[in-house]
Amino acid sequence: MIDKINKLLAEVETLKAASVDEVEAIRIKFLSKKGEISALMDEFRTVAADQKREIGMKLNVLKVKTQEKLNELKESLENNQSTDESIDLTRTAAPIPLGTRHPLSIVKKDICDIFRRLGFTIAEGPEIEDDWHVFSSLNFAEDHPARDMQDTFFISHEPQVLLRTHTSSVQTRVMEKQQPPIRIICPGRVYRNEAISYRAHCFFHQVEALYIDKNVSFADLKQALLYFAKEMFGVDTKIRLRPSYFPFTEPSAEMDISCNICGGKGCPFCKHTGWVEILGCGMVDPNVLDNCGIDSKVYTGYALGMGIERITNLKYRVKDLRLFSENDKRFLEQFESAN
Ligand code: DAH
Repeated sequence: MIDKINKLLAEVETLKAASVDEVEAIRIKFLSKKGEISALMDEFRTVAADQKREIGMKLNVLKVKTQEKLNELKESLENNQSTDESIDLTRTAAPIPLGTRHPLSIVKKDICDIFRRLGFTIAEGPEIEDDWHVFSSLNFAEDHPARDMQDTFFISHEPQVLLRTHTSSVQTRVMEKQQPPIRIICPGRVYRNEAISYRAHCFFHQVEALYIDKNVSFADLKQALLYFAKEMFGVDTKIRLRPSYFPFTEPSAEMDISCNICGGKGCPFCKHTGWVEILGCGMVDPNVLDNCGIDSKVYTGYALGMGIERITNLKYRVKDLRLFSENDKRFLEQFESAN
């Protein structure tokens, strides 16, 4: 009987299993009620009394070893399975959702790209400004309402520090440092002390353009505006200039484009006029040139400024301005850009 036990012990040592089913087959062969070890247990009853102790111990060792072997085989199968899964290099990767650009960023880039094609380069300036760059240098009268606390966020009064209300301040910053020719486009965020509603916000975005050189005329301005309108809104777009007033331009105008929603026929969006206003513009006032150290007897220039939100509304028909700053993914994910 000892021989039989030793043989089984040797066999158990070498056992291998490639699947859970094979492990189960081994269990049945050795440990089930009709298995080899049960048969030995039966046989054990007939063993002579003086051998019972030795053979009993051997039998026990065989039983324990077999159980241990089974556990070991099971465990290694489980481990193999999990490592296999974690290094399956052929598995299709989970899709990584791509972010989208903010609609205002898309439109800002479109505007800048159009002016870049006309030879403009980008200039930027600070959002925290002083009275000189935002108002005084730009020919704002001392009692102009924009200087009022109700329109402008002041950070301090002595010295006067404020949040810029328009990107025209970048004009001054560039002109102070650089002599013509100047051909710049200035995108940026601006702030105004407005009650927030669907059509007004306390911050928004503008793009300013400035071109100064010898012999720059209103005709040059008009040509740039027409080019911009057609590039931005389509070749059939028409423009119309209405006389207006800005402290820093003379003459000044506001530009309308033919309504891109109804094609100029009249609809609620254009209030049935067929036209929508998109920007302000004009010839740079000689006072502004002189204020910034540019000789107004030698040079002339044009400037224009537009709100990015306004252009975005026209392009994408966003009805509520607040959506732009709420970070609602359901809104933002609707916009896609090539780059
Ligand atoms: N700065 C003006 C505003 O914030 C926009 C503007 C109008 C800019 C006419 C200009 C311009 O450069 O010529 O409303």
